[in-house]
Amino acid sequence: MTSIDSFRADIDALSAELPAVPAAADLDAMSGEQLEESLAAAKAARGRSGGFKKQIGELDGSERSEAGKLLGGFNQSAQAVIDAFADAQQRVARRAQLATERLDLSEVISTRRRGSAHLVTQAWERLEDVFVGMGYSVSEGPEIESDWYNFEALNFPAGHTARDLFDTLYVNVGNPESVLLRTHTSPVQVRTMQTTEPPIYTVSPGRVFRRDTADATHMPVFHQIEGLVIDRGVTLGDLAGTIEAFVTAYFGGSFTSRLRPSYFPFTEPSAEFDVLMPNGTWLELGGCGMVHPNVLTNVGIDPEEWSGFAFGFGIDRLALMRHGVDDLREFYTNDLRFLEQF
Ligand code: DAH
Repeated sequence: MTSIDSFRADIDALSAELPAVPAAADLDAMSGEQLEESLAAAKAARGRSGGFKKQIGELDGSERSEAGKLLGGFNQSAQAVIDAFADAQQRVARRAQLATERLDLSEVISTRRRGSAHLVTQAWERLEDVFVGMGYSVSEGPEIESDWYNFEALNFPAGHTARDLFDTLYVNVGNPESVLLRTHTSPVQVRTMQTTEPPIYTVSPGRVFRRDTADATHMPVFHQIEGLVIDRGVTLGDLAGTIEAFVTAYFGGSFTSRLRPSYFPFTEPSAEFDVLMPNGTWLELGGCGMVHPNVLTNVGIDPEEWSGFAFGFGIDRLALMRHGVDDLREFYTNDLRFLEQF
């Protein structure tokens, strides 16, 4: 039979299991885990008080009311302890949420972020600088061209098989396939020769278009730079020397170049030029050659008096090589994490 004394002793023992609630400042200094531990201990103690109700029934009638008060007092203290820790826990969670969601406006005000030119624009501008430094002018032409400028004047007569090398995008204007998005910057050569008296030393950077599916090395819209020199007594040696001078000026003194025989309708002889990287690999950069006499004749320049060379290459590919990027599409997805590196 339970006595009121042993009941009181049991309640006292259970009260001792309730964790003490620290002063407000100390409570707020507790970590989330410490609060969780204290809360669990308080709930466990309160849980154990459930069994005490039964014991009250076993007491003498005169002692029951006192026992009921003792149990009620314990439950009240237990609830107060639980509420104190639960409230502190909510404050911790709220502080953590505020910290993560805080907008630090002072950051935006104090550090003004400057944008930078796109990688292709940077390469384009540097190329212009290198050639201007070598005495060339910069010339540009339209992106929508006639068949004559893009092909015919460059010695690709209608039906010439070399036209098949260019996956041409046609514009639905005039006669079928007479107006197109230029497939290369070479038509600017033609326009420059028509409007400028030789000697001519010019480069023409610009946007070009081909019916290509985007992949790591191709884009339907890309950029080329064309070079054209027309003067008296220009030789293939001048062409090779110019390419070499450009390669060392653009990439640095540890790079060199070579020409490989190739074919383009507008040059004869024609070559492709490669760049030797410091790691020992040759990278194909562009095409070049001596301007074909038919092209000179097409623009009214006397091939007996004048000769010249031309070259052309992709600006995007050059930027790719220079920065060690392995997928051309990175340039155009507008992902700032990529673009901000340059
Ligand atoms: N237009 C050529 C192309 O897009 C590149 C080229 C080759 C340009 C030889 C030239 C040249 O001026 O002489 O593939």
